[in-house]
Amino acid sequence: MKKYIIMDVDTGVDDSMAIMLAAAQEDIEILALTCTFGNNDVSVTTRNTRKIAEFLGIQAPVAMGAVRPVIEEPLDYSGGLGPMIHGMDGLGNVGDRLPEPTVPLSEYCAADLMAEAIENAPEKVTIVATGPLTNVAAFLLSRPDLINKVEQIALMGGAAFSGNLSFSAEANVGHDPEAAAIVFSAPVPKAVFGLDATMGVYITDEEREKMAECGITGAFLKDCLQPYADTYRMLAGWPGAVLHDSLPVAWLIDESCVELHPAVITIELNGRHTRGETVCNFNSNLLDQANARIALSADREKIIGMHLDAVKKFR
Ligand code: RIB
Ligand code: CA
Repeated sequence: MKKYIIMDVDTGVDDSMAIMLAAAQEDIEILALTCTFGNNDVSVTTRNTRKIAEFLGIQAPVAMGAVRPVIEEPLDYSGGLGPMIHGMDGLGNVGDRLPEPTVPLSEYCAADLMAEAIENAPEKVTIVATGPLTNVAAFLLSRPDLINKVEQIALMGGAAFSGNLSFSAEANVGHDPEAAAIVFSAPVPKAVFGLDATMGVYITDEEREKMAECGITGAFLKDCLQPYADTYRMLAGWPGAVLHDSLPVAWLIDESCVELHPAVITIELNGRHTRGETVCNFNSNLLDQANARIALSADREKIIGMHLDAVKKFR
């Protein structure tokens, strides 16, 4: 059965891989791509998303969304780990290889494009979120009448037992904890793909070489992932670039590639050291109150295999 999705992204190198994976699926239709700040300024993530969409031949409209979190000042993107992982341009410092986008940006803002796409969709729509949740929160707050047409929210974010923005906060949730709290309290099924599962889904240099042999799309994505791979190896001795954002899409393709566990997930907003943490309560006596299911493991080989199959669908 065809799945209709909206991807809310902060493109982003791993966002690009997730978009490619989704676009390659016969039974997944991307209705819209909406962009947020996160890995970079929203003007950069939007330009990158438009470039990737046109490179992959995706017809869906692209809209610009949140320029900053609900409460905090946005991060300075020139410093920190962001440029080391995603490159200064957000596309692994090879974004200039892609032509400037020609398809006009949607006249809607992200939340309104989400609403328009969901309202006009023939079936319920899955929101795949791979950046901070500010746009998704804005949509949920502004169009509660459409919540019944949202199948589920499949999001890359949070973690039960770790963090990467801080010791206890993962970047997508940590960039805008208030937005995450709004999403996690919404009466919509949520599948959460946090670091516990995503960190194990790395693509090795050899697998990137295989991807490059498939054509210019694989060759671009192989190089796009290079700073990501180098930084993860340098900082953590990790065997490859981690495809965090692909997990929600991989799960839509084949649910057996992850293990989801029901939990009561609360977003810590006030902790001096824990702000942005996804506090996961797995106690069985609370599971009737579970507001989400969270992945604690993933099948790396199966998910990387999906990408190597998918990239062959492109030139
Ligand atoms: O923590 C990983 C997440 O932060 C991914 O979505 C990556 O693109 C960055 O946005
Ligand atoms: Ca992302």
